[in-house]
Formats: sequence, C-alpha cells, structure tokens
Amino acid sequence: MEKGVLFGRARVLCPGCSEGLLEEQPGGTIRCSSCSSRYPHEGRLIDLIPDRKTADSLPQRAMEFAPIVNIYESPLWRKNPLITFFMGITFEKEYAIMTGALELEKDAVVLDLACGTGIYGRQVASSLPEGMVIGLDLSLPMLRRAQEDYEEQGLSNYLLIHEDAARIPLADESVGAVLCGGALHLFSDLAASVREVFRVLRPGGKFAVSAFSPGGSPFYRWISSIVHMVNGIKGVTPGDLEGIFSDAGFRNPVCRHAEGLWLIMSATKGQG
Ligand SMILES: C[S@@+](CC[C@H](N)C(=O)[O-])C[C@H]1O[C@@H](n2cnc3c(N)ncnc32)[C@H](O)[C@@H]1O
Repeated sequence: MEKGVLFGRARVLCPGCSEGLLEEQPGGTIRCSSCSSRYPHEGRLIDLIPDRKTADSLPQRAMEFAPIVNIYESPLWRKNPLITFFMGITFEKEYAIMTGALELEKDAVVLDLACGTGIYGRQVASSLPEGMVIGLDLSLPMLRRAQEDYEEQGLSNYLLIHEDAARIPLADESVGAVLCGGALHLFSDLAASVREVFRVLRPGGKFAVSAFSPGGSPFYRWISSIVHMVNGIKGVTPGDLEGIFSDAGFRNPVCRHAEGLWLIMSATKGQG
C-alpha cells in the first residue's frame, strides 16, 4: 500500500487521549499527533484495542469464530433462506432500503458500524468511488476477512477499525452518514453507541439501522423468546429505538420495515 494514504478523509481520534488525531508516520507507524501513543495496523485495518480478550457473550464469540466468519455472507448465514423468511426481507432489499434512507452524496464519508465482513461497506464503497467507507467492528476476524474482500474487489476507498461501537474513535461531525446492519441487538451499551453515532455524524446526516426485533404477532414473539433464552439476544422494537434515537438527539425516526423478526429504521441529525 502507498504510504501516507491510510486515513484518506477519515479523522480518527486517539482512544488513549481522545484529543489527538491518528497519523501515519513514515515507515507505516500509526501515532497520535497529541500524546504519541502508537497503534498496530495491518494494511488498512487499525487495531485500537489490541489487548482485547475473547468475547464473553455467546453471540459475540460466534462473530469471532473463524468458521462462522468464513460462511458469514453465504446462503448458510446472512443470506440463509430460512433466516430470510423469518426476517421477512432479503438482504438485497434490506440494502436498498438502508442505503436509500441514507441519501448518500457521491463523495460521502460513510461509517459502516459493526461492519462484520463488509457486506454493506464494500457495496457502498464501490458505488461511491469519490466517497469513503469507514468500517468499525469488535471482531478482528470479521475485519480481517473484510479487508481481504475489499482488496479482492480492488477497492481502496476504505478504512477498517477494531473498536467497540460505544467508543467510536472519530472526530465530531466528521462523517456524512452512518449505517448499522444487523448488529444493534448485540451491542452491550446500545444507548452509548447511538450517542456516539450522533456525535460523529454531521448535522443533517442520516443514520439507518436494521436489527433483530421481537415482532408483532404472538408467533414471532414466541420465536424471539426462544432466541433470547438460547443465546441472550433481545430484539429491539420500533418504540425502543424511537426512544433511544430521541434521547441521543436524533429527529424524524422512520420505521421502514417491521415484519417477522426484523426491523429497519432511520433517523436524522437535525441542523442544530
Ligand atoms: C450479525 S453481524 C452484522 C454484520 C454486517 N453489518 C451485516 O449487516 O451483516 C454483527 C456484527 O456486530 C459486531 N459487534 C457486536 N457488538 C459490537 C460492538 N459492541 N461494537 C462493534 N461491533 C460489534 C460483531 O462483531 C459482528 O461483526
């Protein structure tokens, strides 16, 4: 990779001092401009939590388990016909609704929060050659796979960050839009993560999410209670999300899909 191009338009804050921006030094070292802390990186993947131990929850352990990472985008997982049935929507349709809600400008800097293997981010990066995607995720194996797939598609307008969604290491108002596909229900601190999204988003910017939801009918509520019993995942309802969005400062929450066990919602950061 060419030197000095790692960050592009991404303004990445040092998690150590929360003040300095990270910079790429000659030789490829990543260093904070203020406190001089250094962080490891592998190509365009920066590790801001190199000392993180294995996940404690079962669902997150699955997200860090190589065999699952390897099949994640296949019809065995994210595009599984049975899961698609319970979600009431295909991934392709979900992608169209989510990206439509973001109203992306052609040179937008887009945060793909909890990006996983980059199933969203790669498509966004390829449709916005003048834009940039910043993928953030807690799972290093997911991010490594994302990097391989971005590279295989010949994309270079991206950056990947290993960090928790509750501590988004980006400067205030430095991204144009944020998407978060299929992940909110896994966050250990959802309210803090949504507040962080609000902070990093520019005024007028859109936030679109898809997430596991308990569903409206008794049948879906029963299925979701089994999911909760087996792996602890608790879905979010449109009402839950409206409250969390509004508490963070977002306006105009719109529910764009609420069928089966899945919902898609968006909200806007007001102009002030
Ligand atoms: C089901 S995958 C979704 C991946 C992709 N966005 C999609 O739409 O398919 C959930 C992702 O959320 C990530 N994740 C879970 N908790 C997280 C957190 N607190 N911060 C960042 N990422 C998190 C997991 O590592 C995993 O990659």
